[in-house]
Amino acid sequence: MKIVLIGAPGAGKGTYAQILREKYCIPHISTGDIFREEIARDTELGRVVKSYIERGLLVPDEIVIEVVSKRLKQPDALRGFILDGFPRTLEQAKALDKIVDVDAVVHLVVSEEVAVRRLSGRRICPVCNRVYNIYYEPKPREDEKCDYDGAQLIKRPDDEPEVVRNRYRVFYETFKPIIEYYRVSSKLIEVDSNKSIKEVFPVLEEALRRNKILQLQPCKEDVRVG
Ligand code: AP5
Ligand code: MG
Repeated sequence: MKIVLIGAPGAGKGTYAQILREKYCIPHISTGDIFREEIARDTELGRVVKSYIERGLLVPDEIVIEVVSKRLKQPDALRGFILDGFPRTLEQAKALDKIVDVDAVVHLVVSEEVAVRRLSGRRICPVCNRVYNIYYEPKPREDEKCDYDGAQLIKRPDDEPEVVRNRYRVFYETFKPIIEYYRVSSKLIEVDSNKSIKEVFPVLEEALRRNKILQLQPCKEDVRVG
């Protein structure tokens, strides 16, 4: 199961990757999460990418490609992976083809209006990266604390309205050639992500099964969906 999740900011890439990871025990690889961890640890890479992320701009291709290439060579990714937020440019899509043959590229389609509302309520656990929302399920059970490790949830600095607008502009400028690239290779699956997580997840799962991409048995049955 080598899946790529793409879509606008707030489409639900991280949310569905997290559910798939827990249910099927396949690693979730998010370029955004990798960069945020590097920034938090104040590494050399973190210092380079910080200014791009803070402004809602794309990190240069050569940096992202090297990071993903290294990550996909780790032993846990050999059985499969859920790649979240990569590729974001045609250059990255072509580079990915040279690294690995992915099975499917899922485009989570969301309207800007729905996504902006979601991002304004998003909260993240700084310890385990779980994603919550104060307006929608999954809401944290205890006020602004992670259900799993009790850590105080944080708001992502790039979820400020001005940065969100920039991220959208960048997304709409770059996504069309990528969608076309994968449509031509017949790997593209489009899923309407405007509804609730409880409604969208079974549709996503069924689409993966129908296309014979999801052939694994769940490793965990009682995974929280929404
Ligand atoms: P990244 O972290 O990937 O951010 P993004 O693409 O802007 O996407 P988001 O994480 O905001 O959205 P998501 O789709 O994951 O939504 P989520 O599931 O959290 O990248 C950050 C930055 O890093 C970029 O701006 C760039 O600078 C850099 N970068 C990363 N990758 C790069 C690359 N390849 N090349 C260059 N630069 C790169 O959901 C959002 C909220 O909605 C949550 O609160 C969730 O609970 C809620 N929600 C989700 N689905 C539903 C639903 N169906 N119903 C109700 N609520 C829902
Ligand atoms: Mg995300």
